[in-house]
Amino acid sequence: MSGFGFTISATDGKARTGVIDTPRGAIRTPAFMPVGTAGTVKAMLPESVRATGADILLGNTYHLMLRPTAERIDRLGGLHRFMNWERPILTDSGGFQVMSLSELRKMTEEGVTFRSHVDGSKHFLSPERSMEIQRLLGSDIVMCFDECPALPATEDRVAESMRLSMRWARRSKEAFGDRPGHALFGIQQGGVTRELREESAEALTGIGFDGYAVGGLAVGEGQEAMFGVLDYAPGMLPADKPRYLMGVGKPDDIVGAVQRGIDMMDCVLPSRSGRTGQLFTRRGVVNIKNARHADDPRPLDEHCSCPACRSYSRAYLHHVFRAGEIISSMLLTWHNLHYFQELMAGLRGAIAAGRLDAFVAEFHARRAEGDI
Ligand code: GUN
Ligand code: ZN
Repeated sequence: MSGFGFTISATDGKARTGVIDTPRGAIRTPAFMPVGTAGTVKAMLPESVRATGADILLGNTYHLMLRPTAERIDRLGGLHRFMNWERPILTDSGGFQVMSLSELRKMTEEGVTFRSHVDGSKHFLSPERSMEIQRLLGSDIVMCFDECPALPATEDRVAESMRLSMRWARRSKEAFGDRPGHALFGIQQGGVTRELREESAEALTGIGFDGYAVGGLAVGEGQEAMFGVLDYAPGMLPADKPRYLMGVGKPDDIVGAVQRGIDMMDCVLPSRSGRTGQLFTRRGVVNIKNARHADDPRPLDEHCSCPACRSYSRAYLHHVFRAGEIISSMLLTWHNLHYFQELMAGLRGAIAAGRLDAFVAEFHARRAEGDI
């Protein structure tokens, strides 16, 4: 991946910290990627997302191909210019979102035909078409087109699906071609079965990618089963390439994944929860809707430097949430994204200092105390 490079500067146990250098800027790892599905991190200006500490955003092939279409974004100068975010963008490939969002899906070896959840129109996605869309968007980190069964599923179904995804990974690589300055990541599948994860890792490393994702987790298996897979899955992937855990997760999921050797993650949780009044703090989750905040003049978290905590009381955040005011989504999303990025910075610093275990112990101890 010319123009791309991954440098690990320190390790602590299985955890690593370092930097992914890209032509659009550096990505400090472990990295959390806010989700900007439809060309926006909802309720946030791009410069505000940057101010929380984000180095990279995630965008979605599925949503953007339906509206406003990849061809239109290309004509308008690509996704970075379109959404006013000049730093790196990773795009998911669409297969996973087709499975969860679209209607009347029909899957064949060639690809998947589906109806749009927006207007019912008919569309087709394949490895080749997904690579074309991600190229039109101008994505910096392109994901292979894959398929992922919801868990629990029979082992036969998981194996069949994983093997299809591996054939699609080969076609994705072929269609991606040689694009200096852009990276292509493979996606490991195999559910919670070690042998299938091994088979998938061997298939992907045989093809050769710029980075490797662990897919097919956080799809209903629970944290214990997910950590069970993460105890071995990252070790099956090349140590000198970034490892990306897709769609994860809650703060304690992130901490556990980093301890197990994951370098990148994404999740809608901080942004979506911001809009529903769920706030992540060092002392756990606070529901701002709760009546106990109505007269509380204190900030949400006196140690947080985000605008919501610096300039507003719990009482005000409670009021604007209850009143359905737009500023509620803006402030609460900002706080949550800030919290997630502070957590990542804390993890990076702890790994660099060789004190990750102490950091994690403190992380859990503070949460156990609960909100003040
Ligand atoms: N997002 C969360 N999990 C997955 C997965 O397994 N594959 C893809 N493409 N996206 C995901
Ligand atoms: Zn805050």
